Amino acid sequence: MKSKTCRLDRFISQNSAFKLSDVRLLLAQKRILLDGQIAQSIQQKVTQFTQVILDDQCLQNNQPLYVLLNKPQGVVSATTDLKHKTVVDLLEHPKKDELHIVGRLDLNTTGLVLLSNDGAWSRKISLPETKLAKIYEVTLAKPLTPEYIQVFREGIYFAYENITTQPAHLEIISDYHARLSLVEGKYHQVKRMFGYFQNEVLALHRASVGPITLAGLELGQSRDLTTQEMAAIEAHCVV
Ligand code: URA
Repeated sequence: MKSKTCRLDRFISQNSAFKLSDVRLLLAQKRILLDGQIAQSIQQKVTQFTQVILDDQCLQNNQPLYVLLNKPQGVVSATTDLKHKTVVDLLEHPKKDELHIVGRLDLNTTGLVLLSNDGAWSRKISLPETKLAKIYEVTLAKPLTPEYIQVFREGIYFAYENITTQPAHLEIISDYHARLSLVEGKYHQVKRMFGYFQNEVLALHRASVGPITLAGLELGQSRDLTTQEMAAIEAHCVV
């Protein structure tokens, strides 16, 4: 999930026959275009999505990709796996091999998975500080009690990571069903939080991430996020 950002002079020297020291002259001769604008300085930043044209040659032209998938049970949140079908196997996207997973789900968890080739975006929406709510629908083995609500709000200590979970909102739907809202994604977090009460999670489904839902997307189906959805995510991010 690396964000490849570098200075213009370094980018040119790594992606053409010109040397680092040639780039000032190329700039003076107005031979480099960055996203359609004549480049001005050797220090200009080139991200993985900056279009770079030198003379008539396009050196880079990557499009950011943002994909939404409704993951079925038994599909692993990985890009390759010897035993199970992966979330990437389910995609029909022509550039699916460039994608990484933004927030994994366990093998038997169903629901919303985001994939992207934009590391900076993925990091941003995964950060607890961004406060983007991930909503899980949970089916439990034992009945729920109001005590869970208080404990989840206060946070649960995870000894392995030596952290206390961020305040989480639990809505009890019925004795065995709840809706849990988290702003982070620690390993097996939902199962471990209910494990605090020795209550086994029998079924788990991620229904939404921020404003993004699975409406209209059958299990196993995927599609690109729309411009409106991207803007809505941005608007929901606190930082
Ligand atoms: N928490 C879990 O325990 N499992 C998941 O798949 C997602 C969150």
